[in-house]
Amino acid sequence: MTKYNEYFLPVYNRKELNIIKAEGSYLYTDDGQYLDMIAALGVNVLGSSNKRIIAAIENQANRYMHISNFYESDIVGEYAKYLSDNTFADKIFFSNSGTESIEAGLKLMKKYGKQNNKDVILSFSKGFHGRSLGSLSVTAKTKIVDQIEPLIPGIKSIEFNNMHDIIENINDKCAGIIIETVQGQGGVNIADKDFIIKIRELTENFGAIMLIDEIQSGIGRTGKFFSFEHFGIEPDLVASAKSLGGGLPLGALLVNKKYSNILKRGDHGSTFGGNPVSCAAGLELVKQVNDEKFLSEVREKANRINIRLKELKKSHTDIIGEIKQLGMMIGIELKYGADKVTSLFEKEGVIVNITGVNVLRLLPPLTLSEEEIDYFFEKFKIVLKNI
Ligand SMILES: Cc1ncc(COP(=O)(O)O)c(C=O)c1O
Repeated sequence: MTKYNEYFLPVYNRKELNIIKAEGSYLYTDDGQYLDMIAALGVNVLGSSNKRIIAAIENQANRYMHISNFYESDIVGEYAKYLSDNTFADKIFFSNSGTESIEAGLKLMKKYGKQNNKDVILSFSKGFHGRSLGSLSVTAKTKIVDQIEPLIPGIKSIEFNNMHDIIENINDKCAGIIIETVQGQGGVNIADKDFIIKIRELTENFGAIMLIDEIQSGIGRTGKFFSFEHFGIEPDLVASAKSLGGGLPLGALLVNKKYSNILKRGDHGSTFGGNPVSCAAGLELVKQVNDEKFLSEVREKANRINIRLKELKKSHTDIIGEIKQLGMMIGIELKYGADKVTSLFEKEGVIVNITGVNVLRLLPPLTLSEEEIDYFFEKFKIVLKNI
């Protein structure tokens, strides 16, 4: 039981680690250190305590922390301009979280659908888009949904990577479609390239909006700034968050030119959305990540990890199943032992996570060093022996 557990609604199952400091790829407690191979749930892509991000935060906090969306803030404007200049996007809406970016996208799709007599939004089996009522409506059904239904109407869930399902369902009645190129919570499932290309083709033909959820897969995680770049397409909307705020809360809906006129003044908003300090931190982070040299090093590192994982699988075919990896978004299917693997890793000083029932998920900092990779594999071998 954690120290303050009794004061919280019991929605989390927090680990009993009293973390007093985080730096680089490591978390520190009074008596130990842990290699964080999930980068605080995909957020800390540059590790913890990046000096340039801290300086950007200090600088902006000393100017002002919050002035509200009544006024234009130069740093928030600079970040929106950066994202618009450097991605497919024409316009940006800043929110506070991934879920809220999805909500903004859903609202845009709903309004567009109503204007154009299109009443269906498509989502996918094993997809995850957040925990608000709107984002849950497009998330694969979990047990909480039975207890709180009905969610928002007009959503249809179809099968991920099933060509037949998209051909049948992307039609004149379809307002939009929401998809992860790599499903994170669903078990690190990578979309087939043909599948994503076909969705793009069909959505363009039928005037349906294609939203890619890049909340987990974006900002360099897969070795490209956005994961959709691997698929050779551009979506209409992207929902982003996690590392977008450099470790502070920030989300964004990025919208292309075609659909940037749907939401009008008063249609949407947020008190804290696009907080200046979060934007200062995030802009500093994306400038470091969105650099071809940095990203190609991430891809090379990911390849080296992939080779080592495949070697490990060869010597442990009884336990290691499929290895699913796009850049530094890594899933290792475990044939058994998924229930105890995180605590075995924790005993060895490594933080990992299980997703999609039996998939060991790694979302390491993109800055992971060669020594840290060696350390991880040394510990992985010990865990495999003890499982
Ligand atoms: C793919 C995806 N979408 C949406 C979310 C929800 O984001 P947030 O927790 O910031 O609201 C997450 C969070 O893990 C995610 O991984």
